[in-house]
Amino acid sequence: MKTDITTLWDLSREQMEELFADAAELKARQKRGIVDQPLLGRTAGLLFDKPSTRTRVSFEAAMCQLGGASLFISAKDTQINRNEPIADTARVLSRYLDVLVIRTFSQDLLTEFADNADIPIVNALTDLYHPCQILSDLQTVIEEKGGVANLSNLKIAWVGDGNNVAHSWIEAAAILGLTLVLACPEGYFPNDRIMGRAVKEGHGKLSVVTDPREAVAGADVIYTDVWASMGQESESRARKKTFAGFTVDDDLVAKAKEDVIVMHCLPAHRGEEITHEVLEGPRSVVWDQAENKLHMHKAVLNAVIRKWRQQG
Ligand code: CP
Ligand code: NVA
Repeated sequence: MKTDITTLWDLSREQMEELFADAAELKARQKRGIVDQPLLGRTAGLLFDKPSTRTRVSFEAAMCQLGGASLFISAKDTQINRNEPIADTARVLSRYLDVLVIRTFSQDLLTEFADNADIPIVNALTDLYHPCQILSDLQTVIEEKGGVANLSNLKIAWVGDGNNVAHSWIEAAAILGLTLVLACPEGYFPNDRIMGRAVKEGHGKLSVVTDPREAVAGADVIYTDVWASMGQESESRARKKTFAGFTVDDDLVAKAKEDVIVMHCLPAHRGEEITHEVLEGPRSVVWDQAENKLHMHKAVLNAVIRKWRQQG
């Protein structure tokens, strides 16, 4: 049996907790200079159709550090760009690779890969989700806020667009039982179907408001992301107007708990969704957050290629 990570619903609470523990251990071992090579001889393909700095480099470095090799595949340079069926591509790539990490626009395309590949498919961002981002973000929250056991006592505030990153936070909240309040402008709420499933099948405390101050009141974590995601560049100007008032600045941060942490998946647009002062200020954990993508991606690759396949 293979385990795909197309959305966080592909993982159980237990599997997520296993990833948090493994990522923490891999991080500690790396800091002590220990070299682990459980993926020696294994190959990861990274099929990307959108730009990436952190996700691409951390997945590639993760694979190398675990003893394996990684191949970056620009989707535009493949026969997919000349209409070769996804099912055919998935079957062929399964003959060469041990895992395929995909960043693309359409979640349906990613699901089609998962349905037709014999190897695990890992979502490295689509228009709808960014599951591995939230796994590593949770590792940061766990480090900063008293461990896994304390997660359900925290209030997490999302400020901004109800986008792909927000959707994966909603699913994490549902699966792990987190309190998540999202402040989004009217018209930019999270997807109804994603929210509906999270409320119906999960056990998080989820709500959507339109006032960022309401969301951050008493929050332990403030999270924000760009106002215009990749693929929405033409809406950028209109969104700047609509999202005025949703900037995470010192005044907003002051309404949260004194020891609140401020998170951003990056890349950040200083002066739009977050001020320079907050991003570089004492409450920001964004650089540690970015580092944890490496450690979590190691845990993810080891789990889907080796650990969970052996168990399956
Ligand atoms: N946070 C994140 O996914 O960054 P990249 O787009 O640089 O991969
Ligand atoms: N929501 C952003 C996240 C980038 C990591 C985007 O999709 O562009």
